[in-house]
Order: sequence, then structure tokens, then C-alpha cells
Amino acid sequence: MKKILVIHGPNLNLLGKRETDIYGKVTLEEINKKLKALADTLGVSIDTFQSNSEGELVTEIQKAMGNYEALVINPGAYTHTSIALRDVIAGVGIPAVEVHLSNIYQREDFRKKSMLTDVVVGQITGFKIDSYLLGLRAAVNLIKE
Ligand code: DQA
Repeated sequence: MKKILVIHGPNLNLLGKRETDIYGKVTLEEINKKLKALADTLGVSIDTFQSNSEGELVTEIQKAMGNYEALVINPGAYTHTSIALRDVIAGVGIPAVEVHLSNIYQREDFRKKSMLTDVVVGQITGFKIDSYLLGLRAAVNLIKE
């Protein structure tokens, strides 16, 4: 069975409590549950990982090499700052889909730039939990034979 790794960056563990006007009331646990249910329907296996630490995220993506066929990643605020995340995605060569709950292009100017755009296959932004679910569908389609 094909394996996909879903990665959640900093502060996404606070979903449900954090700026609910922007991110909604859904918790990370609920997102992961819905992703698992969709993965079952699509016939793929997923693992999920969350960290607030840039280094841990980089290490987890390095470890994905040879173990996962695709990545779905919401890098949180590291989207806008992290050359290390950009480089590791380029380095491992695993196709990646970038997702955001909010529409990063409708918010503050500093959010309008993603460091990852040239190394991910594409980006889904602004559909709340559906960004993740659409991202998983996109990742599955990428690795279909
Ligand atoms: C986010 C958008 C980022 O700008 C922000 O720092 C987040 C969440 C989103 O899912 O909308 O933490 O990635």
C-alpha cells in the first residue's frame, strides 16, 4: 500500500483554541481522523506528524526518504521563513503538496510569500479542513500508477 506522510508545523497543535475566527474550531485530532478516514477510502496509508520545532520537521522529512511516496505539509509560520524546510523538500525528492487552512494571499503581506512554492508540486490554501483533504487527494493522484 502506498504511504503518505502528513506534516503539521508550529502552533497547529493549538487548532480549535487558536484564532478560531481564522482557523475555525476544528482540532488537529479531528483533522487527522478525517484524513485517516479519507486515506482508507482512497486505499492509501497515512502517518501524521506535528512539531513546533523547525529542526524536528526537517529531520522527519529526511526520515521520510525511502519510506513515503508523497508528503502533504502545512508548514505553519515556517512557510514564510524556512529555507531549511524548502531545502529538505527539494533534497528528499518526495513529491509534496503544500496546504493552508486560511488563504495566505488574503492576509498580512508577510504571509503572501511561501518559501516552498518552487519545491512543492502545488498549493491548496483557504479551504480550512478541506485544504488538507484536497491535499491528500492531490497527493494520492500524484503517486497513482
Ligand atoms: C497557516 C498559515 C500561516 O501563515 C500561519 O502561520 C499558520 C497556519 C494556515 O494553515 O493557514 O500557522 O499555515
